[in-house]
Amino acid sequence: MDTPPNHAADGTGYGTVARVNHWVVALAMMAALGAGLGLEYLPLEPATRGWLMGWHKTIGVVVLVAGLWRLGWRLRTGVPAAVADTPSWQVRTASASHRALLAASILMPLSGIVMTVFRGRSIDLAGPFSIPAMGNIGWLAGGANTVHALVGTLLVALIGLHVAAALKHHFIDRDQTLRRMVRG
Ligand code: HEM
Ligand code: HEM
Repeated sequence: MDTPPNHAADGTGYGTVARVNHWVVALAMMAALGAGLGLEYLPLEPATRGWLMGWHKTIGVVVLVAGLWRLGWRLRTGVPAAVADTPSWQVRTASASHRALLAASILMPLSGIVMTVFRGRSIDLAGPFSIPAMGNIGWLAGGANTVHALVGTLLVALIGLHVAAALKHHFIDRDQTLRRMVRG
């Protein structure tokens, strides 16, 4: 059988596209999350708040576009098996948390867009690109706001767990898990 194109030749690693997909979405997602938490918890001047909100929305839309592309790539090509000797409970936990992270990378920007445009605000992106306001629909904007805040909070724990697991594999188990996502 042909080796799927996102895998290394031996079928045990991530290919270049899968790795670029992972790091583009991961970095943009963490930037959007950091900005979102800053907007929520820091006592910002109105001008700084407006500036940060603008970047928060733009980066969030990048996460949506890159996240959809990545999801399509992953569904088409699959993912390699876990590194050999990983206990089965860890394989199951990792698989569930990867699915949750993928879902969050679509749900977070989508709920952000829905709550903004149905509060009657347009979203100005770089250059001529913008998403128009769709009017005022309170229940829809409110529901999306709840999803955004709830999934945002879960995401902090999920990313914390994900990064801690990657570091544990690298520094304690000393296996290939992190290396194969960095260098392939
Ligand atoms: C990966 C993408 C995103 C992440 C991780 C993220 C995360 C967050 C977080 C953690 C907050 C603070 C929530 C709270 O505790 O109430 C927040 C607030 C907010 N986000 Fe996002 N966000 C993302 C994308 C977007 C997008 C694409 C938009 C709109 C275009 C958006 C619009 C907003 C707005 C308007 C708020 C303030 C909410 C309020 O007024 O209560 N976000 N975001
Ligand atoms: C510094 C931060 C991060 C590190 C060190 C890291 C590390 C890794 C590693 C080592 C793997 C491979 C696991 C395996 O082979 O079983 C992986 C996979 C994965 N990571 Fe991350 N990650 C980070 C941030 C993120 C973020 C923010 C997301 C959220 C979207 C994310 C989502 C995923 C997903 C969905 C997978 C499964 C493979 C795929 O579909 O690309 N990661 N990560």
